[in-house]
Amino acid sequence: MLYPEQIIEEVRLRNDIVEVVSGYLKLERKGRSYWGLCPFHSEKTPSFSVEPNKQFFYCFGCNRGGSVIQFIMSIENLEFVEALKFLADRVGITLPESEDPKERDRAKRRKRILELNRQAARFYFKTLAGENGLEAQNYLKNRGLSAKTIKKFGLGYSPTGWDELTRVLLENQFPEDLLLESGLSIRAKSGELIDRFRGRIMFPIFDIRGNIIGFGGRVTDGSMPKYMNSPDTPVYNKSRELYGLNYARSSPSKRLLIVEGYMDVISLHQAGIDFAVASLGTALTKMQAWILKKYSEEVIIAYDSDSAGQAATMRGLEILEEAGCNVRVLIMPEGKDPDEYVRNNGPEKFKNLIDRAISLLDYKIGVKRNMHNLDTIEDKLKLLNGIADTLAEHDNPIERELYAKNYAREYGISYESLQEEINKRINRKSRAGDYSTSMRDGRGRRLGGQKKEDFDTRYSELEYMLLVMLCHENRFYKLISENYSPESYRDRKAGEIARKLYKKLEENKSCVLAELLSDMDPGSASYLVRLSKTKGEISEPEKAIKQILNKLAILKLEDLQKQTIERIKNEQDGETRQQLGLEFSIRAEKIAELKKMV
Ligand code: CTP
Ligand code: MN
Repeated sequence: MLYPEQIIEEVRLRNDIVEVVSGYLKLERKGRSYWGLCPFHSEKTPSFSVEPNKQFFYCFGCNRGGSVIQFIMSIENLEFVEALKFLADRVGITLPESEDPKERDRAKRRKRILELNRQAARFYFKTLAGENGLEAQNYLKNRGLSAKTIKKFGLGYSPTGWDELTRVLLENQFPEDLLLESGLSIRAKSGELIDRFRGRIMFPIFDIRGNIIGFGGRVTDGSMPKYMNSPDTPVYNKSRELYGLNYARSSPSKRLLIVEGYMDVISLHQAGIDFAVASLGTALTKMQAWILKKYSEEVIIAYDSDSAGQAATMRGLEILEEAGCNVRVLIMPEGKDPDEYVRNNGPEKFKNLIDRAISLLDYKIGVKRNMHNLDTIEDKLKLLNGIADTLAEHDNPIERELYAKNYAREYGISYESLQEEINKRINRKSRAGDYSTSMRDGRGRRLGGQKKEDFDTRYSELEYMLLVMLCHENRFYKLISENYSPESYRDRKAGEIARKLYKKLEENKSCVLAELLSDMDPGSASYLVRLSKTKGEISEPEKAIKQILNKLAILKLEDLQKQTIERIKNEQDGETRQQLGLEFSIRAEKIAELKKMV
């Protein structure tokens, strides 16, 4: 372990799990726990719970659970050490090592690149305002942007010379390698550094803290490529950023509107639709979907209506759905993008489009309908089968029924027959699905890493239960440790955990489950939390612990009996056989006695 236990525990204690989780999803208090929509699987009704007093989370839908550390590991997709750093940063704890010179150096470079970007943005902005920016200014004016909007979004212009920005930055004492790393300069064949962006309208990309993390640059004529963008750098990761989110996140609207381009965002904001963000031409990523979910109650997707836009919409929808967003699709009139539409028709008309945005189901089915012309029975059949497919994938039964009724009416068939088709598919899926979900739960994952012979489910569950109960009821440490030492554990991993836990309790310290989870992999943590949630709330813990110890003792004796039977079968020597027989019957009595006690 890289860090002392006390520090891990301090980080955990200072990061209240309710607060941390609330940064990612909306939680509602019901009784002793908080509930929300699970960020780890797609659902419409909350089965994700957070327990403030126990400081752990658990989802009854996908069985994930753990402490605040596992939550951050899973949701931010971080390794343990990175998650720990993340949480330490959050509460201002400096981890002792960060004296790790490499890490310190990286942080310093990130800061320098942000400074560089800010200077570059100022330079581009000034150039736009100056003599060399007149043409670009006209271009922006023709596209309907006001001076106020240009200032708000920090738009600029990169001069046409080869190295005007590079020269300024070098004069300001930024080293060449930093210029290259920031993506603002590239090395020409001659070996000299030149500007990446030349003769382009510049769009600085802000993160939510207002840092400038990169740039997009657009030509002012029809030349190619239309846009150039900063490469990924230590401060810019395309797959995580959403253009305009720095403004959209403080919009009073609970929605976010996702569009394709810089110009769409800017035009919409200028028109007062201040909750627009852009995914910047790349396919929407899972991480962006998370972020959208975090900042909104509903996501409206408004991609161009051309076929590329439609394909992007379909892909985007799947990702948004998977992330658990409530999604609707705004249908752009033929050949328009949001920027053109709002400029030509005004904000009110655009707001009408938002109001008329259709549900995910209607959109998916609409796309299928457009693939068939419905002249023949065959075509109609294909479509109806497709509708049944789509509805069967939808997990809300009430919505499923409403949609099925509507579509049955629309295509002149009975609701019953469509419903029957849907049910067939659902049954087929759940038969296949049972298997895969049971393989995917915390336990299944853990199993992957553990050798088969170390592992006997009859023991494992009881042994883990024992550990969970001991965490909840530290006062039974003596009872448990005296009857079941770390070496007694048949499950290797449970034994390792026991060794750690016993040691803490031996030193007269206490230990709660969340603390025990700290450095576990998410799979094991989920498993323990699941046991705690589903079997841990026990009114008579002492009795329950005794029962578990008793069951374990019986299991072990019964296993010895089986071995003894085998040995008797193979034993030639009469005396030894008799001895074994005696052992067998003594043990049988003991087992009978133990069984009476349960
Ligand atoms: N894009 C890009 N590189 C390209 C074309 C597009 O990176 N060669 C990205 C840009 O982020 C752009 C977005 O994809 O904003 C959408 O592309 P498009 O619809 O072509 O651009 P608009 O933003 O609509 O620009 P404009 O209206 O000025 O043509
Ligand atoms: Mn456009």
